[in-house]
Amino acid sequence: MADFTGKAVIVTGGGKGIGRAVCLAFANAGANVLCADVDDPAGQEVVEAGASAPGKIVYQHADVATSAACKGLVEQAVELWGSVDVLINNVGIQPLNSYLPAHELPEEMWDRIIDVNLKSGFLMTKYAAPVMAERGGGVIINTASVQGLQSAKGIAPYAASKGGMLSLTRQLALEYAADNIRVLAVNPGTIETPLAAASTGNDYAKLRQEGGKAHPIGRIGKPEEIASVMLFLASDGASFMTGEFVNVDGGLMAKGAWAE
Ligand SMILES: NC(=O)c1ccc[n+]([C@@H]2O[C@H](COP(=O)([O-])OP(=O)(O)OC[C@H]3O[C@@H](n4cnc5c(N)ncnc54)[C@H](O)[C@@H]3O)[C@@H](O)[C@H]2O)c1
Repeated sequence: MADFTGKAVIVTGGGKGIGRAVCLAFANAGANVLCADVDDPAGQEVVEAGASAPGKIVYQHADVATSAACKGLVEQAVELWGSVDVLINNVGIQPLNSYLPAHELPEEMWDRIIDVNLKSGFLMTKYAAPVMAERGGGVIINTASVQGLQSAKGIAPYAASKGGMLSLTRQLALEYAADNIRVLAVNPGTIETPLAAASTGNDYAKLRQEGGKAHPIGRIGKPEEIASVMLFLASDGASFMTGEFVNVDGGLMAKGAWAE
């Protein structure tokens, strides 16, 4: 496993699901982790879960759809640990009442999903990139989705936010390559998290069963299976990778619509 001892990592939406596993994975690899979330009990739980890890997890309440919160997170990491070495733009929402055709979707719902899922990635980068550049480089990893590549009915803002995240990944990679900042994205398939479970009324057994059928590998993924890929992408083992995405989806994107 890569060693991140002494590195400073920020994880947005770090309180639950994929973000929680990412916080723990980096802390277990020695990094100091600033876990940003709006769910304070969940954030505190991550701190407790990582208490025996070699790296330290600090929780900070932050609605990363706002500029002030993003600026504050970067300042806090610099104050605590002197840098931001890895930024994980993981946060994402897909409220159940957003599953609507575009002509029925309230404009405010569009704005909120885009602000949380996409704008937060821009805002965090806006404040973190200069810090990384000044200290010789860094890595930014964006959590996009297979839904940024293929689509479904009723998910206009989520699809646009994830497609936007993939495009932003390529653009930022070019923008900051000369500063030794690598920018990558991960596209999870269905992962066993509170977000995914909401779609089955929090019935995790149903999520596993129905989701498992869709994925060629025969099951849905675990948050840790996204975290381990992010750990690799942030490591020197991926030093020639930038502007690229990785599907971590049990073969979902390999499957043609005509398959079976
Ligand atoms: N779970 C899946 O199947 C799946 C699949 C593809 C992509 N993703 C993406 O992975 C990422 C993580 O998803 P997850 O399934 O772990 O979600 P989750 O809902 O389980 O966890 C997301 C966390 O983000 C926090 N959060 C929400 N709004 C916030 C805000 N404004 N500021 C700060 N924190 C906020 C939540 O409180 C929660 O702790 C998202 O970007 C999601 O779109 C998930």
